[in-house]
Amino acid sequence: MYAQMIKSEATKEDPEKLAAFQARIDADDKIEPKDWMPLGYRKTLVRQIGQHAHSEIVGQLPEGNWVTRAPTLERKAILLAKVQDEAGHGLYLYCAAETLGVSRDELTEDLLSGKMKYSSIFNYPTLTWADMGAVGWLVDGAAIMNQVPLQRTSYGPYARAMVRICKEESFHQRQGYDIMMKMANGTSAQKRMAQDALNRFWYPALMMFGPSDKDSVHSEQSMAWKIKMNTNDELRQKFVDQTVPQAEYLGLTVPDPAVKWNDKTKRYDFSEPDWDEFFDVIKGNGPCNTERLAARNRAWDDGAWVRDGFLAHARKKAARRMAAE
Ligand code: 3HC
Repeated sequence: MYAQMIKSEATKEDPEKLAAFQARIDADDKIEPKDWMPLGYRKTLVRQIGQHAHSEIVGQLPEGNWVTRAPTLERKAILLAKVQDEAGHGLYLYCAAETLGVSRDELTEDLLSGKMKYSSIFNYPTLTWADMGAVGWLVDGAAIMNQVPLQRTSYGPYARAMVRICKEESFHQRQGYDIMMKMANGTSAQKRMAQDALNRFWYPALMMFGPSDKDSVHSEQSMAWKIKMNTNDELRQKFVDQTVPQAEYLGLTVPDPAVKWNDKTKRYDFSEPDWDEFFDVIKGNGPCNTERLAARNRAWDDGAWVRDGFLAHARKKAARRMAAE
């Protein structure tokens, strides 16, 4: 429906302008905020960058949950830094979205009301310390797989924001894998926890790449505009190919009996996630959707006095300046 709307809006645009715009995209030119762009391009970017920013912000919740329970001071400091990085990623991305003419307040309102989505993965609970390892290894790993190609995306501010984000996500993934190494080589109870975390996060991590290509609404147009650089299935396959040997190195088993190296395709075969579960989660019915939105709404309401204070200060300063002129 939305993709159709974008296509019909695109056909309303001046065909000459559209052709010149597409030629710039095809020549790998970067589109900058003041350049002409089709309305559909702008809307798709606001949706994708906004959703991405929300994912960074909501993504702090399952990990923030473990800051007070990290097993050592060092682990606590690392986790705190990681959670703080995610807040920073959210801010870069909101700034990139603002260059398209939407305000951060509008985006926040759409997140808090449930109108805009955030990544499905953050609607799953983090039950044990091993989940911090699995989140870093698998969730940040999947995020990097998706975001490294986005450094070459056609919209300049988005591509540039992605450079720093990817550097930090690589550190996040390594810290997750490091936790998994410790757990997998620890006591038998720790190894069981690591395996259990892998069992619970494997399919939700595969879902992060979006529905299978045949059900992806936006991929075709987004790839033509280089807002997306790969299809959902391409990235999912790359992720499986990268992650299965990492699981083997840990001595853990991927919870999918169909995972097998295919000598013909030179890729791993694997089972698709349960797509009914995925669509249910993105409709708001996952295990933690209600809890996550309630936490964000509470944080927004609790922060009202800070925003009011800043606004009052800014108004007072402006009034003083006007009186002096
Ligand atoms: N979670 C929630 N919604 C999802 C989703 C997911 N994992 N995957 C797809 N969807 C939604 C889409 O938004 C779309 O719904 P909409 O029309 O209401 O917006 C619908 O499912 C159909 O999917 P499409 O394949 O047509 O959608 P896209 O072309 O947008 O592809 C995407 C989905 C691959 C996630 C793409 O949006 C993308 O590459 N986004 C940028 C990266 C991003 O957002 N990453 C978030 C990961 S979490 C993270 O980075 C935090 C870090 O700390 C780990």
